[in-house]
Amino acid sequence: MTNSSLTSKQPSNLGEQDKKKLPLKHVAIIMDGNRRWADAKKLPRFVGHREGVNSLKRLVQHVGAAGLKYLTVYAFSSENWQRSREEVQYLFDLFSKVLAEELSELCENKVKLTFIGQLDKIPTDLYNSLQKAMQVTRDNRGLNLQVALNYGSRLEITEAVKRIAVAVRSGHISPDEIDDRLIESYLYTGGMPDPEMIIRTGGEMRLSNYLLWQAAYAELYVTDVLWPDFTPEHFDEAVREFVQRERRYGGD
Ligand code: IPE
Ligand code: IPE
Ligand code: MG
Repeated sequence: MTNSSLTSKQPSNLGEQDKKKLPLKHVAIIMDGNRRWADAKKLPRFVGHREGVNSLKRLVQHVGAAGLKYLTVYAFSSENWQRSREEVQYLFDLFSKVLAEELSELCENKVKLTFIGQLDKIPTDLYNSLQKAMQVTRDNRGLNLQVALNYGSRLEITEAVKRIAVAVRSGHISPDEIDDRLIESYLYTGGMPDPEMIIRTGGEMRLSNYLLWQAAYAELYVTDVLWPDFTPEHFDEAVREFVQRERRYGGD
């Protein structure tokens, strides 16, 4: 493969007319680098989070128009509670505000919103808004936008294991029936195709407890671009790189 597609300044090629050509169904993103973006500009850190929302809005429009079926974004990890009370509070207020502002437009664009993570530990007001948003958009047949909120992959797998154990104990399933398809169906993402590509902005070469099971064969794409600077053109560049990759799944 060549890397020329990464560096060349080709125009965006994922417009409406190219819908059928999109070579993947599910992209997952680790939206990282908001605070570094703000620090570099000598702005308060919350401005980085606020600008990060604009990046997401642009991207949702773009991938929706390009016909992507699933976009999963990491908005708040189960480890992010370790941040200051002020930052955590700011983020939850921001999520509430954005949801209230964007819900009708998301609906118009036929976006189906799903939140994945340990949602019952989220403050009640936000939790109620999340449930309402999922209810209102459940029949939409456009982009499936999954937002990972209070999400941690190990916790997701642990909860799945516990529920499988209960099902075995009650006789609903036998241990012999436990295979990767059954386990997958117990995850928050049950029924969805695995992401073919994970994009991480902000340059860190790690998964940070994101979709550990689902990413088993995902192509990893890390860019130094900080999330508030990430544009649809950057996304298209990642897709072009994806197309160049040789996926082998352990074979020759
Ligand atoms: C990602 O940006 C957003 C969240 C984790 C909520 P960060 O807040 O991690 O910003 P950096 O990585 O410290 O720059
Ligand atoms: C991952 O970013 C979580 C989100 C993007 C929401 P972090 O900034 O929390 O991850 P680490 O601390 O760099 O591993
Ligand atoms: Mg970070």
